[in-house]
Amino acid sequence: MKRILFVIFGGTGDLAGRKLLPALSKLQTDRENPIDLSIIAIARRDHTDASYLREMEEHAPASFDLGILEKRISYFKMDVTNPQAYGDLKKRIDDVTGRTDLCLYYLALSPELFTSAASNLAAVGLIEKGNKQNRVIFEKPFGTDLESAIRINQGLSSVLDEDQIYRIDHYLGKEMIQNLMMVRFGNRIFEDSWNNTSIRSIRIVVKEKEGILGRGSYYDRAGALKDMVQSHLLQMLSLVAMDVPLSYHSEDVKNEKSTVLDNLSFDPSACHFGQYDGYLDEKNVKENSSTETFVRLKAHVDTPRFKGVPIYLTTGKKLSVKESYIMVEFEVTSEQRKWNLPLKTNKLYIRIAPLDGVGLALNSKVIGSRDEVEEVELEYCAACKAFGNVPEAYERLLRDAMDGHKTLFARWDEIEKSWRHIEIIKTNQKKPFVYKDEEDLRKQIAKNKKEVVF
Ligand SMILES: NC(=O)c1ccc[n+]([C@@H]2O[C@H](COP(=O)([O-])OP(=O)(O)OC[C@H]3O[C@@H](n4cnc5c(N)ncnc54)[C@H](OP(=O)(O)O)[C@@H]3O)[C@@H](O)[C@H]2O)c1
Repeated sequence: MKRILFVIFGGTGDLAGRKLLPALSKLQTDRENPIDLSIIAIARRDHTDASYLREMEEHAPASFDLGILEKRISYFKMDVTNPQAYGDLKKRIDDVTGRTDLCLYYLALSPELFTSAASNLAAVGLIEKGNKQNRVIFEKPFGTDLESAIRINQGLSSVLDEDQIYRIDHYLGKEMIQNLMMVRFGNRIFEDSWNNTSIRSIRIVVKEKEGILGRGSYYDRAGALKDMVQSHLLQMLSLVAMDVPLSYHSEDVKNEKSTVLDNLSFDPSACHFGQYDGYLDEKNVKENSSTETFVRLKAHVDTPRFKGVPIYLTTGKKLSVKESYIMVEFEVTSEQRKWNLPLKTNKLYIRIAPLDGVGLALNSKVIGSRDEVEEVELEYCAACKAFGNVPEAYERLLRDAMDGHKTLFARWDEIEKSWRHIEIIKTNQKKPFVYKDEEDLRKQIAKNKKEVVF
């Protein structure tokens, strides 16, 4: 059985309590892939091991039992910016673990702290460049802009090789995002039609019902573009628009995703930015802040496969429902053009949240009529079928990091290219308009342009 040391920097944070520890508790109880975990949680506030676990149990969703980690978890108080503290951390690690097969360091910290934590770990020998048994996982966002991302990456590359670096984008761990490649490449009907002769448009949508939930000090500096588009939406776009990879190994898939980012452009006249009514009253938001809480972008991927197909990216807060999906709209058939019937275009839905699944909208004759037509939807709810068994994204990603599988983690060139796109969009960014709700938002976008809203 593999003995694994898992060190969480930012151990008292929201992410550790709601996602990381629950995922680790599930992995520890997975009988099919048994592991022997030791966990050290690090932060600055005071805690005993027991008080720490109690606090985290309050944050964790009720369906997870963190109690099973009780004998495996310990708390270590330190400031990650203090180099002197790392000698003591090393002693604690030696006391706790003795011999381990693998050490994973998870940096659930803001990105400004990444480089100092990694170089301090290296200085005391807790990580060693080239030693694949030491891996470091970096939570998104990787940087706050292009310049900071480059600086962080340069700092890391002096102490770690690329194959020791795991950059998390938890969207890639979601079941339907992984299924996207299976739907595309495992079905003949889509293999032949995944191109600009058959596809009319693509929409990638991530809607949230909530506002910023008290995260004003972070969100007001980021906004929807940096918080969502730079990572989740561009990763989804790359997977949808990439060409057939040479193989399904991590590097070949990433090469194709990276080529999409090389050929990507945005139409500045069709980019819309909104801010929900009441955002300026949120805690820790600057007076007169022009941070966008909604963005709708029109993109093109100038490859032989996708040239000319508009790809709409939409994400925002305080919308009507919480849902994420990718919709691929197909062209009308040659026969459809001749018929004088109200036929719709076929649509493939990859549903990511709240319930994962696949949907297909087709034209069908209304039963009993001569030639009346209706749009019918074939729906498959993957989450309903596997109720209770769908692994959480973090569970899948932590397992992959333990196994050294990197397909679902972002490579440096993908991150760098994504930030370059964000910088370009930001240079053309207009002041956001204020929206009351989703209906109001749609009206304001449609007012100026007769085009797809979202
Ligand atoms: N929460 C999410 O769902 C989520 C999702 C995706 C990405 N992220 C990103 O992940 C990172 C962490 O998120 P979070 O929500 O967990 O943040 P958080 O709730 O603000 O927690 C931050 C953690 O970092 C610790 N910390 C801060 N400065 C430190 C220092 N100098 N030395 C030691 N510990 C320090 C804090 O502990 P003390 O105050 O006790 O020191 C706390 O444990 C952020 O960059 C966030 O944007 C979060």
